[in-house]
Amino acid sequence: MDPIDYFTEENSADVVIARIKNANDKRLAAVMEVFVRHLHAAVKEIEPTYDEWERAIWFLTATGQICDDKRQEWILLSDVLGVSMLVDAINTRRPEGATENTVLGPFHVEDVPHREMGSSISDDGKGEPLYASGRVVDVDGNPIKGAVIDTWQASHDGFYDNQQPDVQPEHNLRGIYKTGADGRYFYRSIKPCYYGIPKDGPVGKLLLGLNRGNTRPAHLHYIVSAPGFETVTTHIFVNDDPYLTKDAVFGVKQSLIGNFEHHDDVEKAAKLNISNPYWSVEYDFVLTASQQN
Ligand code: BEZ
Ligand code: FE
Repeated sequence: MDPIDYFTEENSADVVIARIKNANDKRLAAVMEVFVRHLHAAVKEIEPTYDEWERAIWFLTATGQICDDKRQEWILLSDVLGVSMLVDAINTRRPEGATENTVLGPFHVEDVPHREMGSSISDDGKGEPLYASGRVVDVDGNPIKGAVIDTWQASHDGFYDNQQPDVQPEHNLRGIYKTGADGRYFYRSIKPCYYGIPKDGPVGKLLLGLNRGNTRPAHLHYIVSAPGFETVTTHIFVNDDPYLTKDAVFGVKQSLIGNFEHHDDVEKAAKLNISNPYWSVEYDFVLTASQQN
């Protein structure tokens, strides 16, 4: 028998990969080949003790066990390891000037109320007033009519409505708006706060063990879509946030930092139908034509 058939420390990856050469699913085989090669290289570099290997197995077990309909610890793990952002970057390569993507996160919900342009998404009125506005345009700057802007955000003290069902009304700080012919959007809200991603599970323990924080800088979430254009899933980050360079999930991009301005002007506030003093942010979403066009 050819000695290559027997597993050794040296040829370990080659022996495993040789067994998947006849796979019917060629993409699966290609993915697993790369995965096995890198995994074996990592194990060879780490040289884990039995005890360390067992701890790794228990970490993965706990990560699966805490998952349910509402909690997705695997995605959280992918987020804190920068893998979610990397997959996103690979799948959303866009021309210069187009709005960049960032992580979706676990707090988006379906079936959110469509709100009238200009209305507020703050149903409890708590927090510093914010006037958010801008345009949805194509890469040549032409307004996009009928663009749908799905927005959601954390509260003034850093919680989404679905994390505080007994404190916030359902759908607080969420809303869907549709642009008219001028591509403009404008709505009222409150300035969001930075917040911690869940740390009561294995991912939280991992961050603690690595002396890493679990905070995300304050942001407004958006999914902006329009027929014939690539959907953009993104955030506008608050420019004065102390955690911009420490985002636990690496979601910050320079182009996504909004210019939040503070205003103390009773007349202007009255014109915008917002209480004084207030904050404003103006941000244009630039969409690229979808590939199918
Ligand atoms: C969020 O921004 O909602 C989020 C993103 C990734 C992990 C946790 C939360
Ligand atoms: Fe968020």
